[in-house]
Amino acid sequence: MIEFNSVTKRFGSRTAVNGLSFVIDEGTTTMLIGPSGCGKTTTLRMINRLIDADGGSISINGKMVSSFNPVRLRRSIGYAIQETGLFPHLDVFSNIAAVPRLLGWKEDRIQERVAELLDLVTLDQSYARMYPLQLSGGEAQRVGLARALAANPDILLMDEPFGAIDPINRAKLHELFISIQNKIRKTIVFVTHDINEAIKLGTKIAVLEAGSLVQYDNTAHLLESPANEFVERLLGHDRKLKALILKRAGSYADGSGCGRVASGASPSEIARAVAASDEGCAMLIGPGSVLRGVYTLPSEGGAPLLNSSPLTIQESGDLQEALSLMVAAGESRIIVVSGQDVFRGILHLSDISNEISSPIPKNLGPAAGSGVPA
Ligand SMILES: Nc1ncnc2c1ncn2[C@@H]1O[C@H](COP(=O)(O)OP(=O)(O)O)[C@@H](O)[C@H]1O
Ligand SMILES: [Mg+2]
Repeated sequence: MIEFNSVTKRFGSRTAVNGLSFVIDEGTTTMLIGPSGCGKTTTLRMINRLIDADGGSISINGKMVSSFNPVRLRRSIGYAIQETGLFPHLDVFSNIAAVPRLLGWKEDRIQERVAELLDLVTLDQSYARMYPLQLSGGEAQRVGLARALAANPDILLMDEPFGAIDPINRAKLHELFISIQNKIRKTIVFVTHDINEAIKLGTKIAVLEAGSLVQYDNTAHLLESPANEFVERLLGHDRKLKALILKRAGSYADGSGCGRVASGASPSEIARAVAASDEGCAMLIGPGSVLRGVYTLPSEGGAPLLNSSPLTIQESGDLQEALSLMVAAGESRIIVVSGQDVFRGILHLSDISNEISSPIPKNLGPAAGSGVPA
């Protein structure tokens, strides 16, 4: 647990962080968001004492950070930044091994750990001998993350780590980040200025404006009830659409309305199964409930036709992804599967529109200090 208590930091006459109080729970991902210059980086760097606070206190599990030796504190906390900070003259292995070496780990333990971390960040072991300049931006960030996690810290600080990555690779890094955090459950404090990234990755979101905390809430609640106009503008008019990211396709899968046939079913059995189903379709299901295709009636009439590669989404996929897939394919339903195409049910466009049109809480109206995020 990291606790900020009335923390203030000034640079000359400029107040970068102003009376900040909040508690970051263990094992969660807390996103710090706000426009450029609002104090995100300063807040982050006061946790590992790259910057010392002027007023107030920060504690980790009840112990003031000011009482730690700053160098030792920094080695015990993972830190990843946009520029990666990788040492250009060291190969990937030595970059990842940097902190364990400083901590005096034995060489075979370091070798084992680096191999384990390359696996974790989905880089082939051959990357160990490459140099930072030979890496793509996404690969360099994977190495940066591996390095930050090298000594298995409880806390990981990340400052816009994916900020300079193209959208396709950034989405891949987001998926990777989520799967890693599901495995390791570290206390992660993550700075971003991208609200979509905050919603996608964050357990909780802390919104900063001009050095002050405007709202600190779990992601779903923030989307439902922005505290003021500043937060509302940060979330955007489409915050109901953004909230779809928080909802899993698996929760809406319903298999009750569609027929099912096994391979080898006769044409008349298939026709009967389709005709009897509310959905007007029958799933072709193989052993282990694996979906092999979908029979539907052609619009021009006649016998049911098999589509052997229907539109599907994993049950862990979110409703925003489901909506994009449906819109792109011009379909009003999508089949939810788990693992290797195990049939779970059908998700309808109407399920998503119901989610979007559920009542939006009242606009709290313009509040003092509201402004436009940069
Ligand atoms: N070392 C510094 N010297 C002087 N001013 C600084 C320094 N670091 C940050 N600031 C100022 O403090 C404010 C907050 O900066 P920062 O925490 O980097 O914001 P953010 O990360 O949200 O963009 C800004 O006005 C910035 O100019
Ligand atoms: Mg910053």
